[in-house]
Amino acid sequence: MANTKSIHGEWSSRFAYILAATGSAVGLGNIWKFPYITGENGGGAFVIVYLGCVLAIGIPIMIAETMMGRRGRQSPINTLTTLSAESKANKNWHFLGWMGVIAGVLILSYYSVIAGWAIAYVFKAVFGGFSSDAAIVKASFDGLISSPGQLVLWHTAFMIATMSVVMRGVRSGLERAVQFLMPTLFALLLILVAYAMTTGSFYFQGLTFLFSPDFSEIDSDAVLTAMGHAFFTLGLGMGAIMVYGSYLPHGVSIVKTSLYIAGADTLVALLAGIAIFPLVFANGLEPGSGPGLIFQTLPIAFGSMAGGWLFGILFFVLLVFAALTSSISLVEPLVAWMVENKGYTRVKASVMSGIFIWLLGVSVAFSFNIWSDFTIFGKTIFDFLDYLTANLMLPIGGFCIAVFAGWIMMQKYVKNELSMPEDQYTIWKFLVSYVAPASVFLVFLHVVGVV
Ligand code: PHE
Repeated sequence: MANTKSIHGEWSSRFAYILAATGSAVGLGNIWKFPYITGENGGGAFVIVYLGCVLAIGIPIMIAETMMGRRGRQSPINTLTTLSAESKANKNWHFLGWMGVIAGVLILSYYSVIAGWAIAYVFKAVFGGFSSDAAIVKASFDGLISSPGQLVLWHTAFMIATMSVVMRGVRSGLERAVQFLMPTLFALLLILVAYAMTTGSFYFQGLTFLFSPDFSEIDSDAVLTAMGHAFFTLGLGMGAIMVYGSYLPHGVSIVKTSLYIAGADTLVALLAGIAIFPLVFANGLEPGSGPGLIFQTLPIAFGSMAGGWLFGILFFVLLVFAALTSSISLVEPLVAWMVENKGYTRVKASVMSGIFIWLLGVSVAFSFNIWSDFTIFGKTIFDFLDYLTANLMLPIGGFCIAVFAGWIMMQKYVKNELSMPEDQYTIWKFLVSYVAPASVFLVFLHVVGVV
């Protein structure tokens, strides 16, 4: 079995895979979410906890998840069925694949609404909507999110974009889309960082906020958020990297590629923070102002710099693309499963899943305005879905993946798939069998107040 190919095709090269997987990892999580949750949780100490989680939990699990995908060569649900049969384990493990599919659907439903904000901002930039006045910029953001019609319109546009890439398949859809988007995004971020550096003393205030830790700011909920974010930003725990791994040619090193991907993802998040916090302080804004943070800061920068309208357009276009290279990986597990098990064409599978997710997304769009009073466990639909997926489902999914790779799969298969030097293998094996699951478990115990 180890030599079979996926029925959906394969990446054309190692580089194509790195781009696609980096595309899945780098997204709204890095540029939109990382800055605002860092702002809400007091800065430096939160960043350190998040970086620790990426290293000790995220990377070992990324290696495990990719390895399982390449060995199983199918959608995560069927991969888990195949792998548990191969290792003579309980076949209920395929429910882990289902949980991932559900998490992907729920994440995409709100991800698409936020990506819609970014599309709206492309148009704001084109029509000169940015200003050096923080109050005007804030009013413009409030105007957008209080309009159900606009939010649904942009959410619809983003869902159509996502599904039209997915329906074209692995090579002509996913791979072609990421090839030019990723390098350009990186270049733009560097330009923004350069601009932030010109804001003088605020530059240092921004850096201090981001990098000097004050651990009194951290409670168990902040630790949970940091850990959840490590999963979210790396795209782990729901089968996205597993399904991408199933299209990975043999002979490509999973360990090395995982290190590149995690490294690039972390770098982009830190750069986004370095670009945004100086602007927050320079304009007297509140770092903890929530999901609107980048939409209320960056337009000020673009509104005050020479040629800012152009950079503004480019930046938000690229933010949309970064979101797009992630959103396709969020539905790919579901679409691949529908093709495998229902015999649907990719087009039919994409249209059906797209419509369903779009409907859910409409309720998320309403949760910012007409349904803002409707709450589940005291949270709006958006806040609830974000908490449920990023803080609970992804860490639980990641925990189970670590247990599966570390304890359930027969080690000869794991070794065969990873083909890494013995000493590195020992380190990874220890991290994935003990450190990663125990850390996730401890954080959960801490949150419910047991330790
Ligand atoms: N990693 C993506 C981001 O940071 C989101 C994502 C989560 C993608 C889960 C795939 C799986 O925006």
